[in-house]
Amino acid sequence: MRPWPRRFAFVLASCGRNDAEHIAEVTTGGNIHRGAAAIERHGCGSCHVIPGISGATGLAGPPLAGIGSRIYVAGVLQNTPSNLMRWIENPKAVDEKTVMPNMGLTDQEARDIAGYLYTLK
Ligand code: HEC
Repeated sequence: MRPWPRRFAFVLASCGRNDAEHIAEVTTGGNIHRGAAAIERHGCGSCHVIPGISGATGLAGPPLAGIGSRIYVAGVLQNTPSNLMRWIENPKAVDEKTVMPNMGLTDQEARDIAGYLYTLK
């Protein structure tokens, strides 16, 4: 057998992670698995439908499916990693009239959550 197929298999295995997940983590500096756990822990799903999060069926806020492809966050901020983190960490500082409460997240939790949300294309 020629040697290259083995090497090729190795390269494929090392790129086994989904590209969208990798990009989401690199652009936010967050960890998507910790992000998903933080979303569950903080109960974001009581107000949002969030794909991949069990029990996230709330209807008070907009569904977060496709948030990774949106142009604006909450209709007021351009959708960049730092702006998404800013919103989820302290929405009232961005828009004092918003219904979304300040959830008391740490910077790291906001990063991790933003990472997870950016996998939702
Ligand atoms: C009490 C209900 C409530 C909770 C809890 C809540 N949100 Fe929200 N969220 C809202 C509402 C309402 C909006 C729409 C805000 C607006 O457009 O002014 C919103 C908007 C957002 C947006 C922008 C969505 C878009 O379409 O632009 C994101 C992202 C978001 N929330 C993430 C989260 C995360 C992450 C958590 C948990 C840490 C969370 N929310 C918890 C009510 C909530």
